[in-house]
Amino acid sequence: MIQFVSNKGGGSAVDFETAILDGFAIDGGLYVPQRLPQISLETLKEWEHLSYIDLAFEVLSLFMGPSVMTEIELRQLLQNAYASFEKSTIIPLHQLKSRKETYVMELFYGPTLSFKDVGLAFLVNLVDFFLKRRNEHKSLIVATTGDTGPATAFFTAGKSNLSAWILYPKGLITAEQERQMTTLPHSNIHPVGVSNCLDGGDDLDLVIAKLYANIPFKNKVHLSSVNSINWGRVMMQTVHYFYAYLQVADTIGEEINMSVPSGAFGNLCAGGLARKMGLPVHTFVVANNTNACLHRIFSKSVFLKKPIFETPSSAIDILIPYNFWRFLYFCVGEDAPKIKKWSDAFNATGKVQFDEETHASYSEGFLSSSISDERTLELIKEVFAKDNYLLDPHGAVALAAAEDLKEPLGDRKLVCMATAHPAKFPQVIKDALQVKTLPDKGKHPSIDAAKALGEKVYSSTHSDLEEDLLKMMTADWDLKHNNTY
Ligand SMILES: Cc1ncc(COP(=O)(O)O)c(C=O)c1O
Repeated sequence: MIQFVSNKGGGSAVDFETAILDGFAIDGGLYVPQRLPQISLETLKEWEHLSYIDLAFEVLSLFMGPSVMTEIELRQLLQNAYASFEKSTIIPLHQLKSRKETYVMELFYGPTLSFKDVGLAFLVNLVDFFLKRRNEHKSLIVATTGDTGPATAFFTAGKSNLSAWILYPKGLITAEQERQMTTLPHSNIHPVGVSNCLDGGDDLDLVIAKLYANIPFKNKVHLSSVNSINWGRVMMQTVHYFYAYLQVADTIGEEINMSVPSGAFGNLCAGGLARKMGLPVHTFVVANNTNACLHRIFSKSVFLKKPIFETPSSAIDILIPYNFWRFLYFCVGEDAPKIKKWSDAFNATGKVQFDEETHASYSEGFLSSSISDERTLELIKEVFAKDNYLLDPHGAVALAAAEDLKEPLGDRKLVCMATAHPAKFPQVIKDALQVKTLPDKGKHPSIDAAKALGEKVYSSTHSDLEEDLLKMMTADWDLKHNNTY
């Protein structure tokens, strides 16, 4: 059975269930599996015609093993998790006619219309499964740049073992994303709009880390998180890389390229790990907007925090791609003390310069680009005109980055990850298409329906957030537990 350890080396190895229920490791590090399962080309060939759910079963079984739950339980959990997805294929691929061998992986057919549904549908149900089996409860806390929050809220709503606290930077997400959280009537969902977040969502992650470090509080409210700090998110996200590959490759073993709009690097960390497990991806494109933190890491060897820009691809306005530390762990020979040294230095100074050998270890098979706002909008317009296909701003960043890197990528097949539905970003779409009325492809009935619903939201400011959460979460826990939850 695979055990899990902190990428910063603290504490001892834990089992799968503990890693999932804890979220962060005891030393504030990120859980990583002690070994990555290896998948041969023969196995990939056997998986060639599996549905998304059957493939997920195979990939997850490698990490979970039969002692975590029975095969029947895992299959049932997967069926339930994805029942709310709009398409029976869960994550279909769409080939763009205007480009050679270019496929858009549509990761936005979950109930809240972003790729976060793909990871959270399973993870929240998994946490709930474990809690029911133990007869325990948890307070979940997540920070969101607009998509993790709605997905967490949707899948947690009404679950009696869970209470969700969802922090979002007020004014920095769209009204459509906000309503996906604030219009849920369930008493276990607590969206918190936080004003004055000068560093956007990164400000919120830091407060979560502080709450985790407050051990009496953490223990009192049984704190956990389903942000991509949680290994379960990254594990689940490896599946869509396998699925995309198996849909697109003509022969198993053929190498393809994939482009991923990236913020906290959770999605691409999963891609990088899938390749380390044996997936034949030639190059991953790290697609950034003008908040080019990952682009600096990959092209200039420097992890550097700079002031944030607001961009049309607001969900990736992120300065601290913390899952890079998780991926780096596997690139530098699982050297946890090195990860601790670097991440502590980054937390203290906002900068780490990597040496040549380290840069070579993590950048092999990755190229990166930073895409301007103008280019993002132009590409949405161009693809709509040529293909009658509407990209959301994040999918557009992925495609633009791959086009910037056309030459080094060569003529291999390309999969671009479209991580959100355009209906979540109506103003950006109108600006891009230079129209006053959204085309039908930019609409979604759930987005329209939410406009008529009442909203419930808690408010805080960044400077008071930690204190406010300590009070609100403790009061909620006491109330629910004195009333037998
Ligand atoms: C629509 C969308 N695309 C891309 C990303 C980036 O994903 P990650 O943070 O895993 O890099 C996010 C979330 O941050 C998102 O909401």
